[in-house]
Amino acid sequence: MVKHFLHITDFTADEIWETLNLAKELKVKFRQREDYKPFKNKSLAMIFAKPSARTRVSFETGFEWMGGHALFLGPNDIGIGKREEIKDISRLFSRFNDLMMARLFDHQHILELAEYSEIPVINGLTNYNHPCQIMADIFTIWEHREYLDDLKITYVGDGNNVVHSWIHLAERFPMKFICACPEGYEPNNEVVQRCNKVGLSSVEVLHDPVAAVKSADVVYTDVWASMGQKAEVEEREKAFKQFQVNEELMAATGKHTLFMHCLPAERGREVTDGVMESDASIVFDQAENRLHVQNSIMVTLAGGD
Ligand code: CP
Ligand code: NVA
Repeated sequence: MVKHFLHITDFTADEIWETLNLAKELKVKFRQREDYKPFKNKSLAMIFAKPSARTRVSFETGFEWMGGHALFLGPNDIGIGKREEIKDISRLFSRFNDLMMARLFDHQHILELAEYSEIPVINGLTNYNHPCQIMADIFTIWEHREYLDDLKITYVGDGNNVVHSWIHLAERFPMKFICACPEGYEPNNEVVQRCNKVGLSSVEVLHDPVAAVKSADVVYTDVWASMGQKAEVEEREKAFKQFQVNEELMAATGKHTLFMHCLPAERGREVTDGVMESDASIVFDQAENRLHVQNSIMVTLAGGD
């Protein structure tokens, strides 16, 4: 059976911890540019139906450092699901490559890619979730706090793909997770209910950002209009006006709180320049850790052959 990484819940809690521990070792190795080549003579196909800076550069840099060759296929290269059927691309790349990473619009498309694939598929973001991001995020929090007990994360903004992956993580790691969003922009209720049914964590959806951030260890935000929603920017700007992470909201936590953002950030919209540049902000550690955590995920899925 080929193992894929499409959702955080594809890994058990033990597997997540193993991935984080390996990421810690790989971070040291990468920073020293140690000779480490588990992917010699191997190739990674990276399929992007949407734009990217971090995901592309971190996967490509990481895989090439580990001795392999990474191929970038941009939105105009394949026409996945349009010029060619997903199941055909999946079987084709299974013959050429050793790993696939894909950033697609429709989540069903990545499920189909994995269904027909004989090589591991990694989800580099869909409209539904962003598992590599949240694995890097929890690693970053672990680095900063040194422990993950009694964690309260308050996400302020749109109940989007990033939020769904946070809630998936809450099925595996205990935490208090709050999503503070305007009415009509909540995360998928089934995702929230499923996590609360597991009972390990508590997930709440609130509409008052000031109350939501009280005592938070981390305040997290993301763009108000995700890729594919940019036509809604003006309408969303009105709806989200009270949900900007600014200095006042950060002060309302009442304690030393870390600020996180998956990036790219639209400074002046969901977050102020001041918060981005403040001592509380760990957004660049977060971005760097994409590389180390993804290296760890790739080694876990395909590094042992
Ligand atoms: N955070 C993130 O996935 O960034 P990119 O869209 O630049 O890849
Ligand atoms: N929610 C954002 C995340 C970008 C990394 C988007 O999907 O555009």
